[in-house]
Amino acid sequence: MAESPLRVAIAGAGMAARLHLDAARRAGARVVGVCASTPERGKQAAVRFGLDRSFDSAEELATSDEVDVVHVCTPNASHRRLAELALLAGKHVICEKPLATTSDEADALLELARDSGLITAVPFIYRYHPMAAEARARVRSGSIGPVRLIHGHYLQDWLSGPGDNNWRVDPGLGGASRAFADIGSHWCDLVEWVTGHRIDKLIAMVHTVLPVREGAARGTFSGLDDATGAEPTVSTETTVTTEDTAHLLFSTDLGASGALTVSQVSPGRKNRLWFEVDGGSASVAFDQENPESLFVGSRTGNAKLLRDPALLSPQAAYLSVLPAGHPMGYADCFAAFVGEVYAAIRPTANQGTSTGYGYPTFDDAARTVRLTEAVLRSARSRSWTEVPR
Ligand SMILES: NC(=O)c1ccc[n+]([C@@H]2O[C@H](COP(=O)([O-])OP(=O)(O)OC[C@H]3O[C@@H](n4cnc5c(N)ncnc54)[C@H](O)[C@@H]3O)[C@@H](O)[C@H]2O)c1
Repeated sequence: MAESPLRVAIAGAGMAARLHLDAARRAGARVVGVCASTPERGKQAAVRFGLDRSFDSAEELATSDEVDVVHVCTPNASHRRLAELALLAGKHVICEKPLATTSDEADALLELARDSGLITAVPFIYRYHPMAAEARARVRSGSIGPVRLIHGHYLQDWLSGPGDNNWRVDPGLGGASRAFADIGSHWCDLVEWVTGHRIDKLIAMVHTVLPVREGAARGTFSGLDDATGAEPTVSTETTVTTEDTAHLLFSTDLGASGALTVSQVSPGRKNRLWFEVDGGSASVAFDQENPESLFVGSRTGNAKLLRDPALLSPQAAYLSVLPAGHPMGYADCFAAFVGEVYAAIRPTANQGTSTGYGYPTFDDAARTVRLTEAVLRSARSRSWTEVPR
């Protein structure tokens, strides 16, 4: 007899929640319910998401007997507590990044997760772009030669105006770091995963370009649920302490060096996560806004390798759920990630095979929290800083 579908619930009803919802459905789970910042907003979200039920609070959702897997998609400061509640209640947890806003909290949660024996995962979903997986396969096979240089940027513009505001700006909700914790963490996770190198030392500079922002904090994506439940006020002035930009120079444990620029104030750049890995004989470069190709460069010729499952490494081909020429993207990464995590929860229920190298875990997420703290520490002390392993 077929196993009954996994019962999942989603805490939060904004941009991330919508992606988790669609991915859960694609993976064959039964989405039991959702919650938002207030019971009323939770009810509205249930209607919008086509669900029968909402929970009045994230705490009720995280501990409900009706739920096997809890997806935590709320503002950052609540992640640790909700993930902890869910684990203590025996639920598997997919928790959004950052896992916590301090490394002490992230490490405590990691320990709890390890002791629980439950499946815990964090959506560093850029790993699931087929052409990022192809970059990994080429780097890891040694076909580009030894890795010498890792560089790139992650640029956005949605917070570039003085009237742009969001809960992420508030350190009480987002954490002490904004641009780096929010998007720089994705870049670092991705390049470490592609190369197998670990950033071991760094020197960072962070800058708050707009020290004052006007206007109420809004949800991430207009048209979706508002973020905090606070009533918007006509004129609000926020003094900003979190960074709009971050610059890093770094070395890696395997002898490479690199540089990264992170910004949420770069006009025209929407979600430009771009990296290049330069090896001894070739380079690969990936641009998540153009994820259907990979740049492969060498002294004897440069190529734009198009996503064609027939020509890719096994993992990249596995992630290519659409044929060549039928563009895939960000939402497909979420679907692949969630499918792989559910397959780990129910190995027999078959969401099928997996990439073979595993999904991003709480270990990976705790590492990026440590990296984030190293960035802030280095920026404060204006000196090279070690990243604790
Ligand atoms: N992995 C990724 O690629 C990715 C992408 C986007 C966001 N995120 C992460 O997802 C999280 C949410 O970000 P977002 O962009 O969806 O934000 P958002 O502002 O769009 O949505 C936040 C949601 O949380 C709800 N909420 C706020 N306080 C709550 C509470 N106490 N209890 C229950 N619900 C509450 C709000 O009602 C809202 O629905 C963040 O931690 C962010 O870092 C990750």
